[in-house]
Amino acid sequence: MTQRTATDQAQGGDAIVIGAGLIGLSIAFELARRGVDVRVIESGEAGHGASWAAAGMLAPLTEQLVEPTFRKLCEDALAMYPEFVAHVREAGGVDPQLHLNGIATIAFDDAQMERLLLRSHVLQERGHAYTLLDPMQTLAMEPVLDKHVRGALLVHGEGQVNNRRLGPALLAACERSGVTISTAAHDVALVVNGRRAIGVRTETGLVTAKIVINAMGAWASQLPGVPSDCVPPVRPICGQMLALTLPHQLVQHTMWVPGAYLVPKDDGQLLIGATSEDVGFQTRVTAQGVHALLHGALAAAPKLGEFTISETWAGLRPATPDELPLIGRTALDGYLLAVGHYRNGILLAPITAQMIADLVTKAEGAAPLEWK
Ligand code: FAD
Ligand code: GLY
Repeated sequence: MTQRTATDQAQGGDAIVIGAGLIGLSIAFELARRGVDVRVIESGEAGHGASWAAAGMLAPLTEQLVEPTFRKLCEDALAMYPEFVAHVREAGGVDPQLHLNGIATIAFDDAQMERLLLRSHVLQERGHAYTLLDPMQTLAMEPVLDKHVRGALLVHGEGQVNNRRLGPALLAACERSGVTISTAAHDVALVVNGRRAIGVRTETGLVTAKIVINAMGAWASQLPGVPSDCVPPVRPICGQMLALTLPHQLVQHTMWVPGAYLVPKDDGQLLIGATSEDVGFQTRVTAQGVHALLHGALAAAPKLGEFTISETWAGLRPATPDELPLIGRTALDGYLLAVGHYRNGILLAPITAQMIADLVTKAEGAAPLEWK
């Protein structure tokens, strides 16, 4: 006879979030702030998926998003960031190092400068603040750039957060807010009764909950137990990155240069990213990937060639077929999705948390998500 242990069937409370990336942790923190009893179940380590691999840019305008509703979502997400970070810092005591000093796209020839001019017209029409810089002003802003620089478009209000600090910051904020977090969970599966999700099973048993939220990033389609019509079409897109160790404040702004972006962190690391590769769940750092990134970075700023490569890595962006996230209810009662954030999951973490928390805590129902 098998003896039942306390973990064979536990009352999970109101909500279970599967996946402790920045999306899952942000949702858990927001739910806890609203008084929801929430548990996070993570198969690896908290904050170590794409959320760890990312550059941390908050760039709804520089990313040149086309779909209007999505663009608005990303702009709203940026507007929420200072308050979100303040809440996280206050609750957990860790500063995620938010910097909104603008993102500059750099031009090195007339054609690139012409494109920046056109983009500046679009920004102006939409009421966004920017500065177009001539070569002297560009070099004054970032002396590390090649002296043949042609100019730059600095988008005000954009910036970056240290995503590798935001993970631990959210974890601390969640723990101090009463969220239960289980890491290294095995055999995670959704448990369904009829057309209703009733909990999550792991190797330690069943945990029941009224709501289960899939925040599994690139692995979102792999949750066992989900009815086939509710499996989200998410696939991994690999991004390789590397970091250089620079003298303090040699680079001040996040910059997009042809072939790469450069993101300076407070600890002196300059992140250089990123490739975009449809190669399944592979996270190899390849000679070709590193070559492409260094080629872009050193063409723009040859001086960077003097510094040490401190790290290389790769992560998996969670992509949907239309590259838009799936945030909301599904056709299965009690089963929600917060997946498919692709290139902008760091930016979208706070607004995703608000959207999911609204669905969980407000009585009115929203239509289930649909996808092809
Ligand atoms: P993840 O962080 O991947 O978290 C998913 C979690 O689910 C993981 O911890 C994983 O272990 C867990 N999990 C998986 N399977 C299971 C299971 N069976 N059971 C339990 N848990 C499970 N976005 C930006 O906004 N700005 C950027 O500058 C930026 N740069 C990027 C650069 C690179 C190189 C990459 C790869 C991504 C970048 N992104 C950026 C995108 C961003 O990183 C992602 O959109 C975001 O991190 C997705 O967060 P997530 O929590 O959904 O996924
Ligand atoms: N948003 C930057 C990237 O995904 O590489």
